[in-house]
Amino acid sequence: MTRRDSLRRDSLTRYLVEKQHVDGHIPPQLRLLIEIVARACKRISFAVNKGALGEIMGNAGSENVQGEAQKKLDIIANETLIEANEWGGHLAAMASEEMETIYVVPNRYPQGEYLLLFDPLDGSSNIDVNVSIGTIFSVLKKPEGHPGVDQSDFLQAGCQQVAAGYCIYGPQTTLVLTVGDGVAMFTLDREQGSFILTEENVRIPEDTKEFAINMSNMRHWEAPMQRYIEECLQGEEGVRGKNFNMRWIASMVSDVHRIMTRGGIFMYPWDKREPNKPGKLRLLYEANPMGWLIEQAGGAATNARQRILDIQPQALHERVSVVLGSKNEVEQVTRYHLEADQAKA
Ligand code: AHG
Ligand code: MN
Ligand code: MN
Repeated sequence: MTRRDSLRRDSLTRYLVEKQHVDGHIPPQLRLLIEIVARACKRISFAVNKGALGEIMGNAGSENVQGEAQKKLDIIANETLIEANEWGGHLAAMASEEMETIYVVPNRYPQGEYLLLFDPLDGSSNIDVNVSIGTIFSVLKKPEGHPGVDQSDFLQAGCQQVAAGYCIYGPQTTLVLTVGDGVAMFTLDREQGSFILTEENVRIPEDTKEFAINMSNMRHWEAPMQRYIEECLQGEEGVRGKNFNMRWIASMVSDVHRIMTRGGIFMYPWDKREPNKPGKLRLLYEANPMGWLIEQAGGAATNARQRILDIQPQALHERVSVVLGSKNEVEQVTRYHLEADQAKA
């Protein structure tokens, strides 16, 4: 690569402009939306980096709608995303893991046709221990046919998303994005203050020897989930005939980013401690955007029985079981569950 080539590396702005003008793939309002989300992520990244030098560590002393203790950074990230997005004229409303109801763009600002959903800060338990965390977002179009916007407009299956991504705040800050034609990664250049395209057409290998699951919950899982992991643990001598490695970072963004980079399978299954809760992770803020990104990179994402993107949401804060990553492993886990269901029927 010549020096001029390296200087000409694409920024997120240029990537999006090309998507708009050359490919005709995204409308200008969606381009603006993604740029503004990226700007908010940049601000969150700088806040995260301050660590103990900023007012960002520790608990906020409040709980979110799911009864989870909110960290200061959960609230800072939530407010940063709202403040950045509310005035641009591209949005009708926003929904967040940290807000009980939707946030309709105030009347004093122009209204747009998009809906933005986000997990402002994923992996909250990792903030205070200096381990990678992130922001996850999903974009839908407001359905036509009625004036205004309400909660039911957000209850669209994941296959309706028009953009999705996450920004990981780790040793590097990386924005990972799809607008439906593959996955691209942009690394934050802190000196320039802009996201630079560092990888395009991300592909996840179909096979893997690495799984990610919170093993401490094993005794609470369904039998087919236990079977899958037990077989992985048997290694070379067992039915799988290969040794597996395990990773669990406890922030979905980080575990998914590893899978985007080198493959793997991530699972957060249903467990019998709370039988009425389908899982821990949230369909609209976590599973749908991550599921779409993974599929766009050639992987698969199911709730152990069904494709995540086909699930019709019933509620804003709905939970779901998640199995995602390298295609052949996701298919194997899903098959074990479906076979067990059939045997029971
Ligand atoms: P959040 O911090 O947004 O509530 O999400 C945390 C999620 C997810 O990021 C991670 O994979 C999982 O919770 C970790 O759960 P355990 O604490 O059970 O390991
Ligand atoms: Mn989360
Ligand atoms: Mn969160």
